[in-house]
Amino acid sequence: MARIPEKIVTLLEGGHAFWVATASADGWPNIAIKGSGAVADPEHLFFADLFSKKTRVNLEHNPLVAVAIHDAEKHIAVQVKGRATLSESGPLYDTVVARLAEKAPSLPKPKYVVEIAVESVWDMTAGPNAGERIA
Ligand SMILES: Cc1cc2nc3c(=O)[nH]c(=O)nc-3n(C[C@H](O)[C@H](O)[C@H](O)COP(=O)(O)O)c2cc1C
Repeated sequence: MARIPEKIVTLLEGGHAFWVATASADGWPNIAIKGSGAVADPEHLFFADLFSKKTRVNLEHNPLVAVAIHDAEKHIAVQVKGRATLSESGPLYDTVVARLAEKAPSLPKPKYVVEIAVESVWDMTAGPNAGERIA
C-alpha cells in the first residue's frame, strides 16, 4: 500500500484525464479512458464501470492496473499502479452512482465501481523527475 502525496491529491481535484491500463490473461495491454475516474482518498482511486469490455474481462483475470492521470491545465501528470476490486453495492458504489446521476444524468447507471488500492505512484510530468517513483 502506498499513499498519493496530499499535494498531488489536491492538484488532481480539478478536471483531469484518467486513463486505465489493464492486461489480458495472455499479456496484451489495454487502455481505456474513464471520465468518471477520480482520487477517492490518498490510498484509493475509483472509476465507474459503464461501458467496459476488455477492461472488465482483463480485471477478472488480473487485478493489477496502471492509471495515468493528467491535468492539462496545471501541466502535471502522475501514474498510479494498484490493485482493483469491483463493487456492485456499498458506500463507494452509492456515492459514485449519486455523483454520476447529478453530473451526467444521461449516462447509464454503473454496473460496478472499480476501486483501486494504490501500490505505487510515479511522476509523469515532463521534466527532470519524469519516471521517478514518488510513493
Ligand atoms: C471521454 C470518455 C470518457 C469515458 N468514461 C468512461 C467511464 O467513466 N466508464 C466507462 O466504463 N467507460 C468510459 N468510457 C469508455 C471507455 O473509454 C472504453 O471505450 C470502454 O471501457 C470500452 O473499452 P474496453 O473494451 O477497453 O474496456 C469513456 C470514453 C470516453 C471517450
